[in-house]
Amino acid sequence: MEVISESVEDTRRIAAGFVANVSPGSVVALFGDLGAGKTAFSAGILSALGAKGPFQSPTFVIMHRYDLATPSAQGIRRIYHIDAYRIDDPEELRKLGFEEWISDPEGLVLIEWPERLGDLLPEDATRVSLSWVSETERKISWKN
Ligand SMILES: Nc1ncnc2c1ncn2[C@@H]1O[C@H](COP(=O)(O)OP(=O)(O)OP(=O)(O)O)[C@@H](O)[C@H]1O
Ligand SMILES: [Mg+2]
Repeated sequence: MEVISESVEDTRRIAAGFVANVSPGSVVALFGDLGAGKTAFSAGILSALGAKGPFQSPTFVIMHRYDLATPSAQGIRRIYHIDAYRIDDPEELRKLGFEEWISDPEGLVLIEWPERLGDLLPEDATRVSLSWVSETERKISWKN
């Protein structure tokens, strides 16, 4: 799947459509440079699954967990939104509990800056790529 988003709202809508691909216990890796729209895409997923905002990059806390008031249609109850930008060594993330988050059978893990995880990134993660096209446009692609 490859689409061009023409606005932040468009990116959120595309992410809400992407949610059909996710299942409990899975990991979504969001690749893309600074300002590519990883947080906007995450916000679309979070809101489509019923999480309550505001949705921001958990840049300083590394991980923000959303407990859903009602499980999603897929059976997701918790969303772990990770911003690995400030992670220098994957071991730091492991110490914070990364392995528990990815083994939560009712969890969904969203990762911004997944390249910072090295070998810690599960091979079966769904990979989404976002890239800058113009001031207001972003290319968004994933395999399904
Ligand atoms: N079509 C678009 N989709 C998403 N964001 C857009 C789009 N057009 C412009 N923007 C702007 O690009 C920026 C995207 O910010 P966002 O925080 O989502 O990026 P990010 O990839 O999470 O960056 P960071 O690496 O800093 O976490 C925002 O300032 C937003 O207003
Ligand atoms: Mg971000």
